[in-house]
Amino acid sequence: MPKDTLSIKDNSTGNEAELPLLNGALGTPVIDISTLNKDLGLFTYDPGFMSTASCKSAITYIDGVNGILLYRGYPIEQLAKNSTFLEVAFLLMNGELPSKHELSTFQLEINHHSMLHEALRSFFDGFHYDAHPMAMMAGVVGSLSAFYHSELDMEDPEHRRISAMRMLAKIPAIAAACYRHSVGWPFVYPRVDLEYCENFLNMMFSLPSQKFIDQDHYIDPVAVKALNLLFILHADHEQNASTSTVRLASSTGANPYACIAAGISALWGPAHGGANEAVLSMLAEIGTVDRIPEFLARAKDKNDPFRLMGFGHRVYKNFDTRAKIIRDTCYEVLEKFSKDEDPLFELALALEEHALKDEYFIEKKLYPNVDFYSGVIYKALKIPVDMFTVMFAIARNAGWVSHWLEMMAEPTRRIGRPRQLYTGVQKRDYIAIDDRFSG
Ligand code: CMC
Repeated sequence: MPKDTLSIKDNSTGNEAELPLLNGALGTPVIDISTLNKDLGLFTYDPGFMSTASCKSAITYIDGVNGILLYRGYPIEQLAKNSTFLEVAFLLMNGELPSKHELSTFQLEINHHSMLHEALRSFFDGFHYDAHPMAMMAGVVGSLSAFYHSELDMEDPEHRRISAMRMLAKIPAIAAACYRHSVGWPFVYPRVDLEYCENFLNMMFSLPSQKFIDQDHYIDPVAVKALNLLFILHADHEQNASTSTVRLASSTGANPYACIAAGISALWGPAHGGANEAVLSMLAEIGTVDRIPEFLARAKDKNDPFRLMGFGHRVYKNFDTRAKIIRDTCYEVLEKFSKDEDPLFELALALEEHALKDEYFIEKKLYPNVDFYSGVIYKALKIPVDMFTVMFAIARNAGWVSHWLEMMAEPTRRIGRPRQLYTGVQKRDYIAIDDRFSG
């Protein structure tokens, strides 16, 4: 019998099947169950994908036990220290770090696509001033499909590449517009002389009366560095809920902008990208260090829906390597932008300390994740709390488009169509309305 297989026996019938074991470049082998139904007439059941690999991918690798995160083989620590977000986006999309020439061409192309169609800008008029920016993001990004659809040939790799570049180029402008709509400020056009994160900060904060970047072209390098870092750390995370949503939507051949809008919607939930906003709300609710035990008790109480936001992760079970990197940056950013010690950061540190000593969190391997600290930095950079998940979306967009490109280039693409375990009523006959029991 070949070694790389797994034998499975249905004890109710005695039927057996032999399934191939597939080895990736790194990580846990997977059982190829694609012939299971043909062999045994069975499906598998795995709610929440606890044990299921949904695709093959060469983009990102996570070892949750050892806290390893690699983008295209490069450790996240090295990219966080040495790279920029745009360089990382190039890496994720293309598989290799760019040469100087490739990077400058990439930047030029991003600049070229960064303007929004004026008609798209007017879509914002339909939103109330207090619409959540993630609702606007999902709506406006999805609306890009109305501008780029009929001439898009999804079987043409160059058309796909341009779609991905457009997405990368326009998302920061849309994100900044969501904020400015909510405060009633005029939208700011992108500038070709600024790098990606500088450009975003300028589109967020520049006013006709008061330029964010002065005539000497000064923008605080600590802010730009911090934003690049946060965007790099959030850029991709293999088959998370929003990326899987983008893949599932794309598997139908849907317009890519509509698929990214689906990813934005999935990201919004507090169990995923919405956690960074939820962490700040939670810290505000806790308020002071002496109330931490009360909230820890609530997090442990199974009858209370409250969870410690920013704690726990499906994949990381010892530590989230991104949280470690971010924690150090918090000090640097707060030193620069907060005159006094930030009480929320102090509270976050105390909460982390309490939770890490608590038996419940130790036993369930619940550690601070990336979003536990990202909000503290965004707050110091004056990003409003309800924009935190939008910031995550700008960064994760690099991963979404990379996964979309990878998937669309596969020669054998299949629609994503899971099965189910039906628990409803068995077949029965229609009852005429007059004959139904009326109670
Ligand atoms: N507070 C209290 N208990 C928790 C928490 C938490 N934050 N997270 C997990 N648990 C408990 C949970 O109740 C369960 O207990 P039991 O085994 O007794 O039923 C156990 O730990 C396992 O939790 P789970 O929900 O089965 O784990 P999961 O892998 O399905 O969920 C998670 C992972 C991130 C959704 C979850 O830990 C959570 O809701 N965390 C808070 C939200 C959060 O911070 N999300 C951001 C994730 S990182 C950014 C990103 O990738 O989007």
